[in-house]
Amino acid sequence: MTSTHAFWLAGRRATGEDAFDVTNPYDGRLVGTASVPSDAQVEEAVAAAHAVREEFAATPAHVRAAALDHVVRRLTERTEEIAQLISAENGKPVKWARGEVGRAVSVFRFAAEEARRFNGGDAQRLDTDAGGTGRLALTRRFPRGPVLGIAPFNFPLNLSAHKVAPAIAVGTPIILKPAPATPLSSLVLGELLAETGLPAGSWSVLTVPNDRMPALVQDERLPVISFTGSGPVGYSIMDSVPRKHCTLELGGNAAAVVLGDYASEQDLDWAATRIATFSNYQGGQSCISVQRVIADTAVYDRLVPKIVAAVEALVTGDPSDPATDVGPLVSEDAARRVGSWVEEAVAAGATLLTGGTRDGATYAPTVLTGLPATTKLACEEVFGPVLSVQRTDGEAEAFAAVNASEYGLQAGVFTHDLQTAFRAHRALEVGGVVIGDVPSYRADQMPYGGTKRSGVGREGVRYAMDDYTYERVLVLTGLAL
Ligand code: SIN
Repeated sequence: MTSTHAFWLAGRRATGEDAFDVTNPYDGRLVGTASVPSDAQVEEAVAAAHAVREEFAATPAHVRAAALDHVVRRLTERTEEIAQLISAENGKPVKWARGEVGRAVSVFRFAAEEARRFNGGDAQRLDTDAGGTGRLALTRRFPRGPVLGIAPFNFPLNLSAHKVAPAIAVGTPIILKPAPATPLSSLVLGELLAETGLPAGSWSVLTVPNDRMPALVQDERLPVISFTGSGPVGYSIMDSVPRKHCTLELGGNAAAVVLGDYASEQDLDWAATRIATFSNYQGGQSCISVQRVIADTAVYDRLVPKIVAAVEALVTGDPSDPATDVGPLVSEDAARRVGSWVEEAVAAGATLLTGGTRDGATYAPTVLTGLPATTKLACEEVFGPVLSVQRTDGEAEAFAAVNASEYGLQAGVFTHDLQTAFRAHRALEVGGVVIGDVPSYRADQMPYGGTKRSGVGREGVRYAMDDYTYERVLVLTGLAL
């Protein structure tokens, strides 16, 4: 039993003449049908966002915070249903889908809290020179203008939440475009927003196909673009609108470093388990899943068998089964592409320790060693359940290996040494360094984003709020300072 899901046009439910099917990547079953807005309906949503921008910016903080609190309550109440929907449309094991809903709850909760305290305010005395006597500069932040939020398929609810919640928190309209493979959980988010009474036009969720995205990107009434997805698409967006404010959350080939001091059985068991889990969670389809393990020669020979054992202990199968750790990739094409990269690596001389097989859209968790530096698996983002282990000698060599990548999103460093932790923080060319855990650790209030080809700008509720706004100075004169 499936249903057609309406989209959300300027806060109200709407349908268009076209629709597309959303299928479960695990078994191809139809999950739902999503209605597609016409060009005229898209125009209506954009015009409404533009028209309401001043009214929304002037909406009191308590009103916006209450709306965000409402979403927190309703997401919490509907967690199980939404988790099942995410799992069905994305193929993500339901245990991870439940975690995703929990994270989206946190995002809206942080946004509600930040909405109440956000003003970006600062007061600067200007009487530091004679010409500024009696003068004071007050700085506050104001919205740059309506946001086009483009969300990816891998966290269809939470990465939509990261676009929408900060927009409401600062009072700027947003048009959310979910990924065509996984629009249904974003449309449910629309249901919850529709219950809030936020001004019409302040938000829309438009299931626009990717080939119609350029028109939205070009629209001057949407001066801010917040994009999460692949590098080629992200940079083509930014290059096509050089005068817009773009945040790009792109890919990575994240490294977990295990240093020589992290050497007890307990240490290595922890590192191996975390690496295995977070190389394969959601089929490795996270920009910060562990793709590269950089193991010091002092621990390499003991660590590698532990990683292989931990990877082989993962339960692969039906994402709706609560016991499943690893489900399918988003499509069979994606799994074939991962397979071709593994084949290329093995042909180039890499050793396959486990995995390397495909069943439909499911790719077996895979571990390789001896990966030649020129292979796609070494250089690019695999976005699949594949990791390789590299042997290094000493901290400097390990950090250089992390940086020998065109990406720079997050890195994990397993060490007990505080000085090493600080050196890692200074040396690693990434947006975030995690000590004692994998690079895949993300708390939703933290600044999150990359260096190099991993993108520009930061998400994380407060940081996205800064990004959606700009500083405007008010100079007051004739004051008794
Ligand atoms: C991403 O894939 O960039 C998001 C990772 C996360 O939110 O955990």
